Amino acid sequence: KNIALVAGGYSGEYVISVQSAVTIEKNLDSNKYAVYKIIVTREGWTYTAPDGKQYEVDKNDFSLLIDGNKIKFDCVFIGIHGTPGEDGRLQGYFEMLDIPYTSCGMVTSALTFNKSYCNKVVAAFNVVNVSKSAHIFSNQPYNTQDILQQLRLPVFVKPAEGGSSIGMSKVKTAEELQPAIDKAFKEDTQILIEEFVKGRELTIGVYRAGGELHVLPMTEVVSSKEFFDYEAKYTPGVSNEITPAPVPAEITTLVQQTASKLYNLLNCKGITRIDFIWDEANNKLFFLEANTMPGQSENSLIPQQVRAAGMTLTDFYGAVLEEAMK
Ligand code: DAL
Ligand code: MG
Repeated sequence: KNIALVAGGYSGEYVISVQSAVTIEKNLDSNKYAVYKIIVTREGWTYTAPDGKQYEVDKNDFSLLIDGNKIKFDCVFIGIHGTPGEDGRLQGYFEMLDIPYTSCGMVTSALTFNKSYCNKVVAAFNVVNVSKSAHIFSNQPYNTQDILQQLRLPVFVKPAEGGSSIGMSKVKTAEELQPAIDKAFKEDTQILIEEFVKGRELTIGVYRAGGELHVLPMTEVVSSKEFFDYEAKYTPGVSNEITPAPVPAEITTLVQQTASKLYNLLNCKGITRIDFIWDEANNKLFFLEANTMPGQSENSLIPQQVRAAGMTLTDFYGAVLEEAMK
């Protein structure tokens, strides 16, 4: 089968995506799949052959023309974090072309990619707590005094459609709010400002394979930084990621059940990683975000969870691919 592995993308998460694609490519069974890694940038969608020759994708039908042979794909493994691979754009494109792909569909991708709208929808499901928040837009007036009256400090200020904590700040004092907003507006035209919840960060991968829903072992992230920022996410040793998470069994069960419910309610497909905060003092579980294109670099959480499950990445990615082609 011909598989296109698309990586790169137009956002600041380009570098992480390329690293994710290295892990995915290395672990796709070459006896079963002919994998063509295509790097997607604004300048072009390019496949580099083993001999170094480069080929541009024909976007009319997502094919490659190599030595006179037209190569079409049985499935696309999407490995792009951020736009256009995580936000529904490529999903809509592949749906129009009728080419199967490994991720959530267009609507789910677009919804979950916007942290602010996703929070509102998840809150309405009534299966988990969602922190109080405000949503502001760069082309509409906002008043920091009003925001500070609505929300209790500290707050997190995040680009609504971002990832890997790029442009994000934790704000502890009123004076820090405006600079944090200015920083986030450099990344996006919409911002989510949400109340910080003190607790333990738990994250869990959920995927469908063989027609069934599966949860991976849950991870606790213990960051030595103020929060699990870009450096903590991708520099080995800056945060401690413990799988399986050392929490009481009933909390593990609660997170597994909640994550499975959210995966189904959001109509997810492929691999989704859902992040939570467990407020241990009040024994309340809070939703943080759903990542429909979770990192697959060697240091990322999903590969750690797959290994902790005693599975090989080859079996895991193979199962996800087969499910997408069903
Ligand atoms: N946005 C990064 C890649 C993640 O969620 O893992
Ligand atoms: Mg994320």
